[in-house]
Amino acid sequence: MRTNGHGDPRRARWLAFRADHPGWQISRHPARGGWSYTAVARHHGMQPPVARARTLGQLGGMLEPDGMMPLDASVPNAARIYDYWLGGKDNFAADREVARQVLTAQPDVARLARANRAFTTRAVEWACRGGVGQVLDLGAGMPTEARHLDGRPSHEWEPTHVAAQSGWPGARCLYIDYDPVVVRHIWAMYPNPGDGPVLVDAAGGDLRDPDVIWSLGAVRTMLDLDRPLVLVLTAVLHFMPPDVAREIVAAYVDQLAAGSYVVLSSCCDAAGGDAVTEAYNTSDAPTLHNFTRGQIGDLLDGLVPVVPGLVAVDRWLPGWDEPRLATGGQAGVLAAVGWKKPPP
Ligand SMILES: C[S@@+](CC[C@H](N)C(=O)[O-])C[C@H]1O[C@@H](n2cnc3c(N)ncnc32)[C@H](O)[C@@H]1O
Repeated sequence: MRTNGHGDPRRARWLAFRADHPGWQISRHPARGGWSYTAVARHHGMQPPVARARTLGQLGGMLEPDGMMPLDASVPNAARIYDYWLGGKDNFAADREVARQVLTAQPDVARLARANRAFTTRAVEWACRGGVGQVLDLGAGMPTEARHLDGRPSHEWEPTHVAAQSGWPGARCLYIDYDPVVVRHIWAMYPNPGDGPVLVDAAGGDLRDPDVIWSLGAVRTMLDLDRPLVLVLTAVLHFMPPDVAREIVAAYVDQLAAGSYVVLSSCCDAAGGDAVTEAYNTSDAPTLHNFTRGQIGDLLDGLVPVVPGLVAVDRWLPGWDEPRLATGGQAGVLAAVGWKKPPP
């Protein structure tokens, strides 16, 4: 019989996905009189980096909350529905069902999703080009590769960190999402280099609690909050009522260093937005709120809107006359970039 090298025939093994602590890699090891359990943090900055205990219950008590919801493939999920519209493969049957229902109600939704990703790419690159070298992407979504509607690879969008680094070489980007599948995909696709500075990382967190987000180990170790950053809040604020979204954005803006940018987009009640919301909200997916144009504008309170202001998502970029992706100028998703002006 093979042993684990210590004369004990029982072997250490990785435990299957732990729904209650998706941010930790947990393994079980033979120990005198039973087993011991080890948790290793999946990204830097989480506390403690390594923990050991005699029971899983004790171990759970030692780990800081990782802010992610448990994985349940039977419940449709915003990140994976969106991944389907973008042409990705990281979605389950429950997600595809809702995604197709919404597509039937509003066939333009896949085009709008692509236009939204392309907007994020352009806006982040533009903001970083001005010299901002750090990005916090809240509600980051799956790192779905860019594809045309017919499935051919496309260059219409890039992951946020690539856009940031095109604008400012060496820019750091931290992705946050409360979906463990998103966070795990980002870890898998962009592993830490091991040596040299960490330029790309992901952490679990619920953006509705800004205090918790600012205190996350990954935020504290990777970002310098005394310096300007680009805060990305695209296609995520519409998962909360408009007044709540306004309060949350204001709380983030309050903490941003002057010179920071906020890149945001949201579903709007104009031009087909209602059909999307209706179809989405008949499912178990998270509730989608359709903001009015005024309510999206209110999110920019206290910020200087960057030209061209709040516009249909494919129309945004200073100096750009032509929309990049033809959505026919549909206003189903509106986008804007705000700048936190330094005090006089
Ligand atoms: C429609 S996707 C948008 C992804 C990306 N921001 C974009 O514009 O391409 C919404 C994402 O926000 C995440 N999300 C929704 N509510 C969240 C919350 N309260 N905290 C953190 N992430 C959230 C979902 O898990 C999903 O990945």
